[in-house]
Amino acid sequence: MAKRATKSTKRDVKQELIDGLNEDLNLELEAVLRYLYHSASATGLLGHELREELKADIVGEMNHAVFLADKITALGGELDIKPSMPKKVRTTEEMMKIDIAAERHVIANYTTRIAQAEECGDKGLAVRLEDMLAEETDHAEELERLGR
Ligand SMILES: [Fe+2]
Ligand SMILES: [Fe+2]
Repeated sequence: MAKRATKSTKRDVKQELIDGLNEDLNLELEAVLRYLYHSASATGLLGHELREELKADIVGEMNHAVFLADKITALGGELDIKPSMPKKVRTTEEMMKIDIAAERHVIANYTTRIAQAEECGDKGLAVRLEDMLAEETDHAEELERLGR
């Protein structure tokens, strides 16, 4: 009885990790779409700076999505791809605000995901997520500096 309870708890923890990784995957895809939009349409001097910053990050965010999709499958999970389309934005300031909030959101998510990966005993995943968390922190800080 106790053994069965432990097993089902373990399965739930793994499913929670897979569900979380699917959420992360969609946020990465949203970042790719939003950066494509913002990097092509930001105007003015600040817009020029934002374009340079975001263009450099598009491929990195796509690589994050590719890694997460492969990992979900490797864990025996099912991909749930349903990114939201970027919201229409007029000003560079508003674009930056949205991009910074999104980076801070994924940083918080990866912090949770690292704990879940460790709970599942997947140290390799935890390490890869730590690298991604560090990259997202760089993105957030670079964007925040543009706004100062
Ligand atoms: Fe990313
Ligand atoms: Fe990022």
